[in-house]
Amino acid sequence: MKRFSIKVSRRSFLKSAAAMAAVPLWYAEETFALPQTQTPKSANDKPGIALIGCGGQGRGDCSIASHFGNIVAVCDLDENRLNQAAEQFKVKNKFKDFRKLLECKDVDIVITGTPEHWHTMVNIAASNAGKDIYSEKPLTLTIAEGKKLVEVIRKNKTILQVGSQQRSEQNFRFACELVRNGRIGKLKNILVGLPTGPREGPFAPEPVPDYLDWDFYQGQTGPRDYTHKRTHYEFRWWYDYSGGQLTDWGAHHNDIAQWGNGTELSGPVEFDGRALGKPMIEGGYTAAAEFHIEAKYANGVTMTTTNKAPCGIRFEGTEGWVYVERGGTKYSHPELEEVKFDDSKDIRLYRSNHHMGNFIECVKNRKDPVCTVEIGHRSISVAHLNVISVRLGRKIKWDPVAETIIGDKEAEAMLSRPMRKPYNYSFIGL
Ligand SMILES: NC(=O)c1ccc[n+]([C@@H]2O[C@H](COP(=O)([O-])OP(=O)(O)OC[C@H]3O[C@@H](n4cnc5c(N)ncnc54)[C@H](O)[C@@H]3O)[C@@H](O)[C@H]2O)c1
Repeated sequence: MKRFSIKVSRRSFLKSAAAMAAVPLWYAEETFALPQTQTPKSANDKPGIALIGCGGQGRGDCSIASHFGNIVAVCDLDENRLNQAAEQFKVKNKFKDFRKLLECKDVDIVITGTPEHWHTMVNIAASNAGKDIYSEKPLTLTIAEGKKLVEVIRKNKTILQVGSQQRSEQNFRFACELVRNGRIGKLKNILVGLPTGPREGPFAPEPVPDYLDWDFYQGQTGPRDYTHKRTHYEFRWWYDYSGGQLTDWGAHHNDIAQWGNGTELSGPVEFDGRALGKPMIEGGYTAAAEFHIEAKYANGVTMTTTNKAPCGIRFEGTEGWVYVERGGTKYSHPELEEVKFDDSKDIRLYRSNHHMGNFIECVKNRKDPVCTVEIGHRSISVAHLNVISVRLGRKIKWDPVAETIIGDKEAEAMLSRPMRKPYNYSFIGL
């Protein structure tokens, strides 16, 4: 967002403001009618927002963001989706290559709505171009990416909100505050219920549609034969691009588990995971569909992650439990619902009641949003470690301080992945 005081004539300022904001001059005259020395509080003072990755979620985020700023550019490497988004948000600036979009001076904020194998590359490039970022979860494809991203975001003083919007929902915060304030006694176990993923295939190769740049889409991964089952929405069922439900819903629920446990900037020290259900089908989806993982934190709390429990997070303590999900909250004792916290002595958690609104506010005041890059990185680290343990079918030990796997070279190698050229970091000039 531009921060400027006006040294030009009022009329010429209004003319250029009207042009930049794509509003008629009469509107600018009414809206921007401010004394010359003031910072304008006008349509033109709203941040310019760009969407990279115009799928269902990206466009949903962008619609919400449009209440806070001006949508000025869109980017997708699927031409059909690009055109649909341009029409929806009434923008002329359309890009296939996000690097070109990032050159636009009128873009202050980027919404990253690509699949996760592109998140880090887009987010680092956006940060290096001076943009603030609302990035969809899962924040990264690997833990190595997360470590790099944290460094870049902090070095550049970028405001980055991770799209783990459950943090801005009152019932999740309340459940975590109950736990953090000992209202269920001493926390013993966290039961994380995730949906079951699909176990389908094999999928026959298909001709690449002329509207999609399949090589670019695959980016650092592959190369693989094209099937539409590897792209829009379905990408999440492939280990190449994602981690199935363990990372998809895992990103959301691990985030709340860590918040309630007070370990948002850390993680468990041990993961013991197994894949369940039907074995993988050759030529079919490659992410685990059913799973059971027992993890342990250094504070003695255990965490069970399973597709056999209701989708949500159940905090189990010595004196009760609280179960929280998107539909609401259940309590072991009805009086827990009535708990009123005392600001002077209880632990109160970051209060955000609107995830995008909180981000935009932080873009203005340069403070940390409710789901920072570190928090998002640590939440998805838990999910990545679950995936690694399930894929290997054995226990792994994790050092959350050094962020390394202990005594298992094969597992350690899975903290990063080979990046296919030219889509390694040199693609964004690193
Ligand atoms: N916060 C939530 O509750 C929530 C819900 C759904 C999805 N998501 C997340 O949002 C992201 C997108 O999910 P979706 O379901 O909308 O996926 P999608 O497949 O429908 O959309 C992704 C879009 O990104 C485009 N794309 C891929 N690589 C690109 C690149 N390098 N540059 C530009 N565009 C690129 C694709 O062509 C596609 O149009 C995922 O990471 C997903 O986990 C979050």
